[in-house]
Amino acid sequence: MLDTTRTTGDLQALDGAHHVHSFTDPAVITGGKTRVVVRGEGCQIWDSDGRRFLDGMAGLWCVNVGYGRQELVDAAARQMTELPFYSNHFQSTTPAMTELAHKLSQLTPEGLDHFLFTSSGSEANDTIVRMVRYFWKLQGKPTKRTFISRTMAYHGSTLAAASLCGMPHMHAMDGGTLPGFAHIQHPHWYMFGGELTKEEFGLQAAQALEQKILELGPENVAAFIGEPVQGAGGVIDPPSTYWPEIQRICRKYDVLLIADEVICGFGRTGNWFGAQTYGVTPDLMTLAKGLSSGYLPIAAVAMNKRVFETIGAGGLLAHGYTYSGHPVACAVALANIDIIEREGLVDRVRNDIGPYLHQALAQFEQHPIVGEVRGIGTLAALQLVRDKDTREIFTVEDGAGIFCREASYNQGLIVRAVGQSIVLSPSLVITHAEIDEIVDKLKRALDETARHFDL
Ligand SMILES: Cc1ncc(COP(=O)(O)O)c(C=O)c1O
Repeated sequence: MLDTTRTTGDLQALDGAHHVHSFTDPAVITGGKTRVVVRGEGCQIWDSDGRRFLDGMAGLWCVNVGYGRQELVDAAARQMTELPFYSNHFQSTTPAMTELAHKLSQLTPEGLDHFLFTSSGSEANDTIVRMVRYFWKLQGKPTKRTFISRTMAYHGSTLAAASLCGMPHMHAMDGGTLPGFAHIQHPHWYMFGGELTKEEFGLQAAQALEQKILELGPENVAAFIGEPVQGAGGVIDPPSTYWPEIQRICRKYDVLLIADEVICGFGRTGNWFGAQTYGVTPDLMTLAKGLSSGYLPIAAVAMNKRVFETIGAGGLLAHGYTYSGHPVACAVALANIDIIEREGLVDRVRNDIGPYLHQALAQFEQHPIVGEVRGIGTLAALQLVRDKDTREIFTVEDGAGIFCREASYNQGLIVRAVGQSIVLSPSLVITHAEIDEIVDKLKRALDETARHFDL
């Protein structure tokens, strides 16, 4: 049983002694600095000392419908009472799995009508690597095995997903990527665009894919994978010309196009999926996070008819997880989608809070240490710079991003630092008043950061 009598100090001590954290320096935890979060409601969370925070990140970009939704608790309880578990192996299903696959087929872009469930985005991307290579083998093109992704991409932490990632520290940890993974530069206009317009830069950045395909040989390239907006890489929203050009190149060389919608899916960019926002139709998509708003772990691979029918003709599919389509997670995902639909949250992002958030953040374009304010929908980032005229970004050693993140935290606002960018991804139910509060707290944190660096 959970011991509810423990103090914050007790929990920090136990945590330091036994718990290995994700994406955390273990020394910080063994030093007794764990933040203990105990409760959430709407866009707010409370720590074990009763301190309230406005959660500008919706957990890890995932609590799309906000914390404290009793409806999701009830859906889980009903399913657990009825049938807590059954698998989808060996031609079995449960109503919740079937219903969720059917529901997703109505929401995803046309043609993406088949869904393979996993428990996390990483597992889903790992699955995609296997499925796509299997697809090409069955198509009689077994050499098409290499995946192309982008620098600063984040696609997960399993072996294959980490190889899809484009973050140097992810590869450095265990000695590089697996064979069969290549990367092109991410389309960050502010960083790499120079004198080009955004649209010109978007085309140029996409054409790097064509060059990479030709360099590797189209007969060796299986797929291109990208997040419609790169999230964990710092909210890189590409120019409008980028994705259509990527799609054109993929079609030209018969390279499958994969949209990793783990962050962008379920309303975050103002459409159900980021691919719709950028006007492309992928062959496969990765879904996770907003699928259940993080209430339970569930993810999915969406595939189109061509992919499904090819692998469908291959006999026994030697792939799957015990928890693929876990009925409780599926029931919660269905209830979560009901909320998004009933409350019109996708339209709300596109027509109301997305524009309100970006209008409010635009004032920081005048701030002495903010070089660029970027993003779309409920995704936003502020690029911290030393010099606005030369676009000189703070260095890692400066640590301006982390300084500003901690200053925000001290104001009671959770944001994330990605390098020298401050990143936001609040829940889709955030109110105007809460956005005003974000902006107010962020302003104080930015001012403090500027003072710290004498700017
Ligand atoms: C775009 C993207 N893909 C994949 C993943 C991995 O998902 P998970 O952490 O559920 O394994 C993430 C996680 O943040 C992500 O942002």
